Amino acid sequence: MGITGLFLISFLLVHCFINALIFVNDGGVTFNMGAHFMGTNWIIRSMEIVLFLGLLAHIFQGFRLWAQNRAARPERYAVHDGEANSKWYSRSMGLLGTLLLVFLIVHISKFWVMSRFTGIPTEDVNGNHDLFAVMVETFRDPAIVILYVLAMVSLAYHLLHGFASAFQTLGWNHKKYTPIIKTVGVWFSVLIPLIFAAMPVVMYLGLIK
Ligand code: HEM
Repeated sequence: MGITGLFLISFLLVHCFINALIFVNDGGVTFNMGAHFMGTNWIIRSMEIVLFLGLLAHIFQGFRLWAQNRAARPERYAVHDGEANSKWYSRSMGLLGTLLLVFLIVHISKFWVMSRFTGIPTEDVNGNHDLFAVMVETFRDPAIVILYVLAMVSLAYHLLHGFASAFQTLGWNHKKYTPIIKTVGVWFSVLIPLIFAAMPVVMYLGLIK
């Protein structure tokens, strides 16, 4: 869980950086260049296979861990004061993870399937696939925008628990470095989903076009 989690965290960083190129606000030309590089570089393309395997492994391990925890304590606690023992999002990793799963299924079917299989209908001034135009079109739908924003709130809580946990699971505890990792984890968990959530919102509002 820790290794796949850290791998997915590094994917999020790269994905967020490339997508943030939309904020250049040049009609998507810079973003499409970034997407073109990511889509044609063979190292990145090979990593995509590892990414999907990692994602599936992470989801599978999450469900297995949840099932193991339930099996370890078949009868519920008579007195259960979760609030006193852990943060609510630590106890809700299953729920938050499932919300993210729904988002991912919608997300991948909206962008990735089109980009890799069915084809992007238009090209930009540089002759690159106009993935930006697909984003603008997708985020015209307020239901999709709401789903994305809610999913990013879920992602923030998921990361808030997961970031430092990954290091703990791997046994990487250190008197000096663990507090630094925790602080970086909190910043990462808030900033990255916030930047992601801003994308559908600014496009829906027509601030980026
Ligand atoms: C909310 C803002 C987001 C936007 C606008 C966005 C946009 C995109 C686009 C345009 C693609 C297709 C890239 C290509 O095929 O060249 C893509 C792929 C993908 N996205 Fe996102 N994404 C967002 C957030 C996320 C988040 C939060 C996750 C994970 C939790 C995620 C996971 C993926 C995956 C797994 C793929 C397919 C693999 C790949 O193309 O490398 N995305 N996204």
